[in-house]
Amino acid sequence: MRFAGALLFALVNALSAYVLMQGVPVIWNALFPEPAASTPYGNGGMPAPLLDSEFSRITARMIHGAVRLWVDMFGDGGSSTAGVVAMVLLVPCIMIIRAFSDYMSKYLLSWVGVRIITDIRQKVFIHLQNLSLDFFNKANVGDLISRIVNDCQQAQSAITTVISDCIKHPFTIVILAYGLLHEDWRFSLTAVVLAPVCILPIAIYGRKVRRTSKLSQENQGEIVSRLHENITGVRVVKAFHMEEYEQQKFWETCYRQFTYQMRIVRSVNILSPLIEIVAALGVSAALYYAHQQHMPTGKFWGLLIGIFFLYDPIKNLSKLHTTIQKSLASTDRIFAILDSQSTVVEFPGARELAPIRNRIQLEDISFRYDSKWVLQNISLIIPHGKTVALVGPSGAGKTTLLNLLPRFYDPVQGCVKIDGADLRGVTLRSLRSQIAIVTQDTILFHDTIRSNICYGSLDATEEQMTDASRRAHAHSFVLQQPQGYDTVVGEKGIKLSGGQKQRLAIARALLKDPSILLLDEATSALDSESERLVQEALGVLIRGRTVLVIAHRLSTIQRADLIVVLENGRMVEQGQHEELLAHNKTYRKLYDLQFREG
Ligand SMILES: Nc1ncnc2c1ncn2[C@@H]1O[C@H](COP(=O)(O)OP(=O)(O)OP(=O)(O)O)[C@@H](O)[C@H]1O
Ligand SMILES: [Mg+2]
Repeated sequence: MRFAGALLFALVNALSAYVLMQGVPVIWNALFPEPAASTPYGNGGMPAPLLDSEFSRITARMIHGAVRLWVDMFGDGGSSTAGVVAMVLLVPCIMIIRAFSDYMSKYLLSWVGVRIITDIRQKVFIHLQNLSLDFFNKANVGDLISRIVNDCQQAQSAITTVISDCIKHPFTIVILAYGLLHEDWRFSLTAVVLAPVCILPIAIYGRKVRRTSKLSQENQGEIVSRLHENITGVRVVKAFHMEEYEQQKFWETCYRQFTYQMRIVRSVNILSPLIEIVAALGVSAALYYAHQQHMPTGKFWGLLIGIFFLYDPIKNLSKLHTTIQKSLASTDRIFAILDSQSTVVEFPGARELAPIRNRIQLEDISFRYDSKWVLQNISLIIPHGKTVALVGPSGAGKTTLLNLLPRFYDPVQGCVKIDGADLRGVTLRSLRSQIAIVTQDTILFHDTIRSNICYGSLDATEEQMTDASRRAHAHSFVLQQPQGYDTVVGEKGIKLSGGQKQRLAIARALLKDPSILLLDEATSALDSESERLVQEALGVLIRGRTVLVIAHRLSTIQRADLIVVLENGRMVEQGQHEELLAHNKTYRKLYDLQFREG
């Protein structure tokens, strides 16, 4: 609809240029009557027009008739000042129509262009969120952000100009070329004969722009990356006195961006002057021709206006090529994201996972991120409602094992089953809605405490929310915050203490009320009071659920129904606390090192 409107306005715009070209000679002749040129559209002894059809003569005559009517009605034959003013005012009147239609077609076409990119941006975001974690392991945050923000922006401005130029200018060129050829084809061809010379530089500089634009967009990603790292890591930068080092590195990246940008500016802007020179040569040739032919002044003005309006779109179309090349560099980068595939996919015909009431089964699981096996041949049964504690030295693969349950990754060999169903055969939504995760580093969003607790349970009532908060021992400290539950916690919860953050995360998990709980206990111990509160909150959270916990605290291990010991990706022992201690093997060593004073 908008597109059709835009087409219509573009047509009006092109026609108005044509009207101006035809109308000016009529006005000129009315103002400066020349005996020889009594008919402005007559040939006056000139060669016959190339395009001499009935249609062209009728349109030309209609325009002349209309302009004449204006001149005769308001013009007074040019005898009074008012008459002359009325006559010359016709030119701005036509220009106003031209300007308005120009504005409208640009507006409507921009609407289409901006909308396309808005949709693509959202599409990229949705695609990103559906990608599995292995994509994010390899990706660079700054680069991804830059693609969604900067590349989409670049593609947007390009698409907007491309659509508008591709639609508007061909109309103008065709109509004006038609008019000019009809009016005096020799004059017109003389004026534009050199135009094809411009094609070569357009092609060369177009390719240059595309190459540089790709480098520039990549570098833009690096700028965002640096910013992201420096702002989030500002404490480390300051603590290690690395400000100057970081400033130098940032300057290098920015300076590189500057050189790329200037390279693009040179390539893009060299084309306009080049075409203008060619146009000037053409006009001078046409002038010479007009002099030879003793062309009537009015007609000459009309033709010159036509040529002038014709070169403008040609100039813009030449820029278009470089714009397209620029946007191609960006769209390549956007589509690279859209082309990347998630490795965790639902099987076709995946069904809903019914509320879990039996056991979780790991069947002979092996897993690797790259080439090195991180988990090997692990088989484990987690009975319903029981707590299984994972222990093992750092890097043993505990977190990795935990990540297999919500299908952050799929095992390379073996499978995970819940109530006998392979996880790959159930929908991710139904699986993850039954699982809550409390991680080593608590992740809070830059939002209010209320929103952070309700994350994942958006339809919870205020009572349910405060109840969860109370059971997680968070309620009393929340009330001490300046705005209670409406206090914004700062990025990653920076305004809260470690223990407070953990209790909010526990409240969030309690509110979700999942049947499976995955717990990656924080390694850093809290002070005793805070520790006691967190432990109590965890105790509440664990009750009545199937829990897989990576234990770093003695109390957690003692509460567990089963302890599983991992070492170098293998399950080396399992059993109860006392029994494992008696074995006097890996667990005993770990216990002596880690847990004894915990
Ligand atoms: N995203 C990843 N890409 C590649 N390798 C990884 C990735 N995450 C972990 N690893 C590797 O897998 C192994 C197991 O890591 P994992 O995080 O599971 O250990 P962990 O037992 O949880 O250790 P910790 O107690 O220190 O948290 C390590 O050798 C680690 O280097
Ligand atoms: Mg870990």
